[in-house]
Amino acid sequence: MDLGLKNRVALVAASSQGIGLATAEAFAAEGCRVAMCARNSDRLHAAADKIRKEQGAEVFVDAFDVSDPAAVTRFVADVVTKFGSLDICVTNAGGPPPKGFLACTQEDWQRALELNFLSTVYFAREVIPHMQRRRWGRIITITSITTKQPVADLVLSNAVRTAVVGLVRSLANEFGKDGILANNVGPGFTATERLKELARARAASSGKTEQQLFDSWAADAPLKRLGDPREVAETIVWLASDRASYLTGQTVLVDGGLYKGL
Ligand SMILES: NC(=O)c1ccc[n+]([C@@H]2O[C@H](COP(=O)([O-])OP(=O)(O)OC[C@H]3O[C@@H](n4cnc5c(N)ncnc54)[C@H](OP(=O)(O)O)[C@@H]3O)[C@@H](O)[C@H]2O)c1
Repeated sequence: MDLGLKNRVALVAASSQGIGLATAEAFAAEGCRVAMCARNSDRLHAAADKIRKEQGAEVFVDAFDVSDPAAVTRFVADVVTKFGSLDICVTNAGGPPPKGFLACTQEDWQRALELNFLSTVYFAREVIPHMQRRRWGRIITITSITTKQPVADLVLSNAVRTAVVGLVRSLANEFGKDGILANNVGPGFTATERLKELARARAASSGKTEQQLFDSWAADAPLKRLGDPREVAETIVWLASDRASYLTGQTVLVDGGLYKGL
């Protein structure tokens, strides 16, 4: 199936590993030119080199923190200068620390807002004018199943990520007339470094081993396994494609059926 993505420019934030990296790889495999960022420069450059080598794709990278609005502004401008356009923007960032409500400090809330909500605002406001000019664009936010179903000890994620859903719906409403589609993707338990971090933290407080935690997360999903980052990435690529041309303002969970609501 031709997804119509050849030569599109796809920016994928926070993409040196995990779901972000799998998404950058999947866009490159569809013939996109790809822009990637993350904080750790060595890991980011290694990830970009791997994509160039394996896919023969053009890749542009810059190392910065997505919660820095000036850095996001500079990056988007540099991507447009380098590639001449910007068609697809996938927002992503690291997850907030696992904590219960009373353990969260003022700094935790501030950081979670900046990292998991405001960073999305920073990217959206920079990329939308470019997409409006070409009357075509895709904004896809990576959040979490927590936008539909809270997860224990992840109050920062449960609370802050729902603001992203409100933003995505608002962008879909306001910019649909310009050919810009905005959707949100919520992963369930997906086998990445982030999940290992969660398992380490939960193991320390629960008395269970990390393996027992992985097993119980897998057992909770009707598909009885953890997700692979590539499965989230393939959904994002499809949402960005011409094959999903009448779909906007939605949250799509890639969670193996973990969300129990209707
Ligand atoms: N894995 C899951 O089960 C799961 C489930 C639901 C939701 N999620 C969410 O999905 C997102 C991606 O998760 P993942 O599992 O792929 O995580 P991951 O494996 O830990 O990868 C996170 C990526 O984001 C980059 N990053 C982190 N903080 C950043 C920042 N402030 N600025 C720029 N780049 C940053 C990291 O590189 P640097 O550290 O070098 O910056 C890395 O490339 C997270 O928000 C996570 O909470 C994950």
